[in-house]
Amino acid sequence: MSSISEKRVFPDGFLWGGATAANQCEGGWQEGGKGVSVSDVAIFRDPKTLKDLLDVHGNCDITDEQIAEALVSKNEAIYPKRHGIDHYHRYQEDIRLFAEMGFKVYRLSIAWSRIFPRCDEEEPNEEGLLFYDRVFDECLKHGIQPLVTMSHYEPPLALCTDYNGWYNRKAIDFFTKYVDVITKRYKDKVKYWLTFNEIDSIIRHPFMTGGLIESRFKPEDFLQVEYQAMHHQFVASALATEICHTNIPDSKVGCMITKRMLYPYTCKPEDVLKTQQEMRALYAFSDTQVFGEYPAYLLSMYRNKGIHIEMEPDDLRIMKAYPVDFVSFSYYSSSCMAMDTEGLDQGLENTSVAVLNPYIETSDWGWGIDPIGLRISMVDLYDRYRKPLFIVENGLGAKDVVEEDGSINDDYRIDYLKKHCIEMYNAIVEDGVECMGYTTWGPIDLISNSTNQMSKRYGFIYVDVDDYGKGTYKRLKKKSFDWYKKVIQTNGASLFEE
Ligand code: BG6
Repeated sequence: MSSISEKRVFPDGFLWGGATAANQCEGGWQEGGKGVSVSDVAIFRDPKTLKDLLDVHGNCDITDEQIAEALVSKNEAIYPKRHGIDHYHRYQEDIRLFAEMGFKVYRLSIAWSRIFPRCDEEEPNEEGLLFYDRVFDECLKHGIQPLVTMSHYEPPLALCTDYNGWYNRKAIDFFTKYVDVITKRYKDKVKYWLTFNEIDSIIRHPFMTGGLIESRFKPEDFLQVEYQAMHHQFVASALATEICHTNIPDSKVGCMITKRMLYPYTCKPEDVLKTQQEMRALYAFSDTQVFGEYPAYLLSMYRNKGIHIEMEPDDLRIMKAYPVDFVSFSYYSSSCMAMDTEGLDQGLENTSVAVLNPYIETSDWGWGIDPIGLRISMVDLYDRYRKPLFIVENGLGAKDVVEEDGSINDDYRIDYLKKHCIEMYNAIVEDGVECMGYTTWGPIDLISNSTNQMSKRYGFIYVDVDDYGKGTYKRLKKKSFDWYKKVIQTNGASLFEE
């Protein structure tokens, strides 16, 4: 007779692993013929208080003057994504460590600016293509499937400065050319693809996601600009799905959203309504990519706000013809919504601000920790779309301490991940959700997207580098390294051991 713990395993073939993005880990920003990307001009701010953090999150815009300053600056300390964790030179060691943990999948992004340094070249940069050949070969050598994000906060800077980013329809041509190149090149190496990371984030940080320099537009026009850029990304994403399926017939292509989990602050109908409105503002992005058409509520928002989207005759047909195969998302935290927020404590989520949930604890960065929210999110998404899910980001950003003996006892991270994995199991086994896999965010410490800090660490592997880029860049295993290794080895059974 099998014991209870033997029975509690994840489905066969479940893809356990970790996720990174080129701009946050590679470094080597001027090597191998790479062009400058939006992330290479992202400046480090050192937030000390919750107020500072709120400002950082609200301040994702950049001006032409700041870009010009960044371009002449040689100071890597204040542009941390330029050095990252030097994965560009150490990818073999890093992938070996992932393999030691037993990863089945490694989610990473291709830096568009390594392949087309400016975005508008005739020919791709062979050195950039070779780099990812080597990375994928290293993964496959260890039996790790790559899961590749085509665009993760790293459009080439020239797309923004010379073309106004995704506001310009030409971005669709540049992007699809890039997608054609990478999917032909890696057709025998990569089966799983995501088009745009957190496509909904174009509204929260239009520069990083959409390459939009806000100060170039009239404030009253900017919403229109963002939604126009979003439309171009939707068409590009549908075309990328088509190209990927043509070049790699057995490939699977997913969309990717930031799964906010919002609860009504009270059961007052006004609070429930507000929560529904906010959730729809997010679902608009996945609804469009899964159903292949704009949802009615988004179209009525356009009408009510006087937003007019310029389209070409074929756009809606393209969007309908090439929906995604699966739905992927990031999940970190939850918070609340209220129609009237006066007097309520506001807290942070992933690049958003909302009402703090008094029933849950928060991380060092003020994000509400809520494992059950992951289960609810999975059920919501699966019921809505009936397509397989893939959790491609989840984790705890925390400050780690290296003890004198070199150990790093990150029990808080183990606790966070364990509880989330158990709720993921409940969603799959109890609630019948189909989930392809789970990749924790930053299995190796990397630069934070929102604050550009190194001290906000997510990894099982510690990297000896500080917020100013100083350190040996040596890799050290944290306590969570062996913990995750065992979870993977037992296909989840160890989660249920005392
Ligand atoms: C996701 C992004 O939004 O959250 C990642 O896709 C990011 O790029 C992650 O790093 C965690 O956010 P942060 O700000 O803690 O790095």
